[in-house]
Amino acid sequence: MSKVSLIQNDDSDGLIIKSLPATLSWSGGTDGCLELIDQRKLPNELVYLKCNTTQEIYGAIKNLAVRGAPAIGVAAGYGAFISARSNPSDPMAGLEKGCEVLKTSRPTAVNLFWAIDRMKNFARKLKKDNTDKEQFLAKLLDEAKAINEEDIRMCFAIGRNGSHLIKSGEGVLTHCNAGSLATSYFGTALAVIYKAHLEGKNFTVFADETRPVLQGARLTQWELSQAGVNVVLICDDMAGYAMKLRKINLVITGADRIAANGDTANKIGTYSVAVLAKKHKIPFYVAAPVSTFDMNISDGSEIPIEQRNGDEIRQIGQTKIARPDAEVWNPAFDVTPAELIDAIITDRGVIENPTADKIARLITGAS
Ligand code: MRU
Repeated sequence: MSKVSLIQNDDSDGLIIKSLPATLSWSGGTDGCLELIDQRKLPNELVYLKCNTTQEIYGAIKNLAVRGAPAIGVAAGYGAFISARSNPSDPMAGLEKGCEVLKTSRPTAVNLFWAIDRMKNFARKLKKDNTDKEQFLAKLLDEAKAINEEDIRMCFAIGRNGSHLIKSGEGVLTHCNAGSLATSYFGTALAVIYKAHLEGKNFTVFADETRPVLQGARLTQWELSQAGVNVVLICDDMAGYAMKLRKINLVITGADRIAANGDTANKIGTYSVAVLAKKHKIPFYVAAPVSTFDMNISDGSEIPIEQRNGDEIRQIGQTKIARPDAEVWNPAFDVTPAELIDAIITDRGVIENPTADKIARLITGAS
């Protein structure tokens, strides 16, 4: 089942869990396609979607076939290449046009914009160097693959940097899916969990179901059990009581965008979990790669929050649970203020009690 072709055994340092499939990978040469797990079908079916055009990648991101901030970024990187390929007489123009489309797929996860900017800057440099058209496409595809591969390495690094925070016998709460499925492989919040599991620690993960789209029930429960991690699925409104009963010792979530001061956008409901954790004196951790930081915005009030179709609330899957004309409000994300976050676990290290200064030092590499 596993398709982690990008990772060499010697690089992975024993972190490949064979029962976990790669979320997305390139198949073939410059005439190939992006293959990704269609996450809308999980946990009932594990099927792959092949994307050959910009529109197909745009649709896969918008309709949540591929989701999770890092995975969206990787898909967009390949999308930029596919856009260039679509205009053989002027690949640069094709790339620019396609990226404008891809940018409108989802607004909150900064990794989308980060990957598009990286591909555009890389293409501009190739053009400046007068790279011929064939080489231009080959190099562009290599750059998209590099984003894919770096994402895997970042996830492994997050796991290594954070696993000490979990002890045997503990209960760990997570919200949404910040797992292998939300990245190229291994995850962010779940990377910490996978690494602790591979170290032989015995602990239990409580997965919030995460209404309205149920990423916790459909995806987190599935991938943790695939990997052999003890997982207990709970409804979102049970987290507080589980904390009161001391079933939960720490919380780890992912992030879609982290502002320069540490305010963090993540799946709707994350803020409520952080407030509950503070009330119960339980540490609340965010795990994310450096590509999730947006140093252009000073605080969380500037993070664009995606509003999604109200039917996600009026229905559970295809089952109608409210009147079709019920007025609803459906923000897909919320922002947890930095003061509620005990640490941000990144691929470059752990930032305890995050502040703008500490984040700037980590991102710029200044000591
Ligand atoms: O709407 P989604 O499913 O794309 O939201 C995903 C999340 O909020 C994840 O927690 C976040 O992207 C972190 S993924 C490593």
